[in-house]
Amino acid sequence: MIGVFDSGFGGLTVLSALLRELPAYDYLYLADSARAPYGARSAEVVNEFTLEAVEWLFDQGCPLVVLACNTASARALRNIQQLHLPLRQPDRRVLGVVRPSVEALAGIPVGTVAIPDRTPPSESEGLVAVLGTEATIASDSYGIELRKLAPRLRLVQQACPLWAPLVEAGEIEGPGADYFLRQGLERMRETSAGQWPSRILLGCTHYPLLLPALRRLVPQTTELMDQGELVASRLADWLLRHPDQERKLGRGGARRFATTDDPAWFSERGEKLLGADIKAERLRLRPR
Ligand code: DGL
Repeated sequence: MIGVFDSGFGGLTVLSALLRELPAYDYLYLADSARAPYGARSAEVVNEFTLEAVEWLFDQGCPLVVLACNTASARALRNIQQLHLPLRQPDRRVLGVVRPSVEALAGIPVGTVAIPDRTPPSESEGLVAVLGTEATIASDSYGIELRKLAPRLRLVQQACPLWAPLVEAGEIEGPGADYFLRQGLERMRETSAGQWPSRILLGCTHYPLLLPALRRLVPQTTELMDQGELVASRLADWLLRHPDQERKLGRGGARRFATTDDPAWFSERGEKLLGADIKAERLRLRPR
């Protein structure tokens, strides 16, 4: 199975794009809903929780895990890739969402292998933006990667700490949601001296659910980038370039869902989002 991890149900926006782009594979989705949101947690705690989730997915037989969660990708992925995997799981792979998103922000076409220090930096210039949780923005992961791949692009990053809770509460449309969406966008524009970026990356799994409301508040000249699709197309390309890893993946079209909180609540939310039946199971993640 391909393991897909998120702090909660928002990562189903990424899974849904994966199912459209790569439907043949088997998937196991894990939501750490009991400990979500991760967005305001410290780097140490996000690291710890993410590692527990990844190890559980490995135990279930996932040779490849995608961290759909931006906060986990920003805070824990480097540690997992550089320290944990080489020592404990050298044959398994964990991928995140920051790198493929930055490639898309930089205008690097899918299929172009972008390796820092080896790929000529993108010629793109102008202003782009990333919106995310406090932890994602504080980590500067997007800034660090973008400076390597497209040093001429200017980046404005804005934390929108209330957007994920809005989605969790089902408040995705209406005056209440608009108030907080406007507030986040205004703060972003304060940093960019009023200029609208050419692209805004929705750097949090929950934000695509706010797209209809956001589209009304952002000028048409600004592209709103939904991470699910770009992650899915770049994962398809990664699998083509890593046939040794691709061969390990089951192709029976299986779908399994697990959550650390109430499986009925998760299944109900998830069915609406995925448009498919979900029977989630409950699990308890334990410190390792
Ligand atoms: N899944 C998280 C992310 O993509 C958002 C929700 C949270 O704060 O846990 O950053």
